[in-house]
Amino acid sequence: MNKDTAVILLGRGGYSNAPNEQMNRLVEALRESGAHGLATTAFIDGGSPALPDALALCAARGVARALVVPVYLPSDRNLDNWLNRTVRRWLHHNAAADFTVHMRPPLADAPELAAAVQALAARYADAPGAPLSANKASPNSPEWSRIPPHSYHALLCRGPRCNAAGSGEIAQVLKQRLKAKKMGDDAVLVAQTGCLYPCNLGPVMVVYPEGLWYGGLTVKGVERIVEEHFEGGKAVARYARYPSQQRQQRPTEVEQV
Ligand code: FES
Repeated sequence: MNKDTAVILLGRGGYSNAPNEQMNRLVEALRESGAHGLATTAFIDGGSPALPDALALCAARGVARALVVPVYLPSDRNLDNWLNRTVRRWLHHNAAADFTVHMRPPLADAPELAAAVQALAARYADAPGAPLSANKASPNSPEWSRIPPHSYHALLCRGPRCNAAGSGEIAQVLKQRLKAKKMGDDAVLVAQTGCLYPCNLGPVMVVYPEGLWYGGLTVKGVERIVEEHFEGGKAVARYARYPSQQRQQRPTEVEQV
């Protein structure tokens, strides 16, 4: 029993509920084991909570340490390094001296995984189940041949850096505000994307037809964009950023200067 230890299962998200449901099942199994003080999920991209939010939850619950256990495949060395740096920066800004975070190796490096896959393959070879029958029907929905009419196309980044900077909450607020104003896909067609490139300005959103970039989005910022840009037709200058060779800053950083 490690009641002073929290386990954070770290996965990659997606744009349906399936990743959340699968991760929740794994977390539930950990909770039922009763072996740890706390078990929770975190998502690198495309899902919530982001890792910094999960760490904040663990620290607030008063456990002594958090084990971050990656449960996604395949791993990526660059991403692993960035995650380490992200956790270290979070510790620098947030954690009490007696709270420690331990990043465990990628799932792909765990010897137990190879053994589990081997056992699974052997079991399936013995009992392969019914074969699929051939079917001429297209796997695609006819709906996917349509470009829905829309006034604005908003590309909201849910890549790793924007996710860690809070784009999960931005996505939720954007959805709620548009719904409250009865603005459907025909008004604003929202697409959540992977990394759009200027990660240091995250959370980032690009709005077409203007091709306008918004950076350093906050809850208040996205509420203003819905009202002033999508409803009123006027860009919100405070969050607008323009392509340039110059390095730029988030609005909050500009204010601090
Ligand atoms: S993760 Fe959003 S711009 Fe890179």
